[in-house]
Amino acid sequence: MVSAKSDVKDISLAESGKLRIEWAGREMPVLKLIRDRFAREKPLKGVRVAGCLHITSETGNLAATLQAGGADLILCASNPLSTQDDVAAALAASGVPTHAIKGEDDKTYYKHINTALDHAPQLTIDDGADLVTTLHTRRSDLIKNIIGGTEETTTGVIRLRSMQKAGALKYAIIAVNDALTKHFFDNRYGTGQSTLDGITRATNVLWAGKKVVICGYGWCGRGVAMRARGMGSHIIITEVDPLKALEAVMDGYQVMPIAEAVQIGDVFITVTGDINVIDRDHFQKLKDGAILANSGHFNVEINLAALEALAKSRRPIRPYVEEYTLASGHHVYVLGEGRLINLAAAEGHPASVMDMSFANQSLCLEYLVKNKGAVKAEVYPVPEAIDKEIARLKLRSMGISIDTLTPEQAKYLASWEQGT
Ligand SMILES: NC(=O)c1ccc[n+]([C@@H]2O[C@H](COP(=O)([O-])OP(=O)(O)OC[C@H]3O[C@@H](n4cnc5c(N)ncnc54)[C@H](O)[C@@H]3O)[C@@H](O)[C@H]2O)c1
Repeated sequence: MVSAKSDVKDISLAESGKLRIEWAGREMPVLKLIRDRFAREKPLKGVRVAGCLHITSETGNLAATLQAGGADLILCASNPLSTQDDVAAALAASGVPTHAIKGEDDKTYYKHINTALDHAPQLTIDDGADLVTTLHTRRSDLIKNIIGGTEETTTGVIRLRSMQKAGALKYAIIAVNDALTKHFFDNRYGTGQSTLDGITRATNVLWAGKKVVICGYGWCGRGVAMRARGMGSHIIITEVDPLKALEAVMDGYQVMPIAEAVQIGDVFITVTGDINVIDRDHFQKLKDGAILANSGHFNVEINLAALEALAKSRRPIRPYVEEYTLASGHHVYVLGEGRLINLAAAEGHPASVMDMSFANQSLCLEYLVKNKGAVKAEVYPVPEAIDKEIARLKLRSMGISIDTLTPEQAKYLASWEQGT
């Protein structure tokens, strides 16, 4: 296969990246248990794997696990702003071809994806489905090699389901995002904490007393709202789904349309996976000094092109903060170019959250290899046995044990004859 060298910012950062990967590994006990087994059993021996992922210290630990399992791995970034350059250097130095530079332009981003595809992967790991869509559109000659793939995030799963519906999906992909042990922890607790962390690092704002508008009350939105409330913010939710909106009301939050929320909010956080959630008409109604951040997968949730067109001027005012001045004289601050703020301005999810996601990734790749040829070109859920196994391993690593059904209880729960 084409042997790909790495394209990283500065290989001399490798030592600091190595320490960072080691530090994250301390909080990833489930992945460590899987890595130890993979090292013994080599379930991915010689299998070519292309991973399009956020190149962070946690991904460094996933890479080590897949390598321990015998995989022939190449990595590229799944977002132009989320790469930790020292981690990319450490990965490159450890022999994993890595193609990722923080701040790379779109052309370089796709060049890196194409380099990962030059590896002729048999398994793909994606986060947002850019690798898989490039493979299906511009590199479809490579599809014949593929055993299957995995997808890490909600937006990627939505894109893949659209592909399946249109008859365009050509190989099996497991929606790791949909595992309970993934989105319970990652989307809720991970995005919740790290989104606030990213905004705090970028702006140093005090959360207490702020009116924080959260667009979208899905898994991520719930997590962000829960944590912002804990910091003393007043939470306003905008939604399009009546059930989610009702849930937000019952959870004690104020719910209103975005057109009203823009008139009172201090900080706005979009986590919908949707487009133009904060749009042209909304910008003109924002209070002076409003802060706009996105933690949804793509940088399309805030209509930045419209804001740019409306603005009289624009300037970077501190790292990850761009000040737009509108004709009214109001200032609007956009964080991290509207890209996932927890990865752009902070370090993404804490390692213990990614432990669960990446345990799912590792076991699903093993599952695909074991079931080679037996899976159809569809989006599959994570097998329940894998989900439960990860929950069990996590509890074990925390020193927590739980009860088991007695034979009498198991029989009772499976029967319908017994009533009052
Ligand atoms: N920042 C991160 O690290 C991170 C982690 C996980 C997922 N994500 C991304 O965050 C996004 C949301 O993920 P999720 O798991 O919460 O999805 P979800 O489907 O559980 O929730 C999205 C919510 O947004 C609502 N919504 C859609 N359009 C809207 C609009 N115009 N206005 C208001 N609400 C709207 C939907 O009704 C839904 O309730 C996705 O893009 C996902 O890929 C980011």
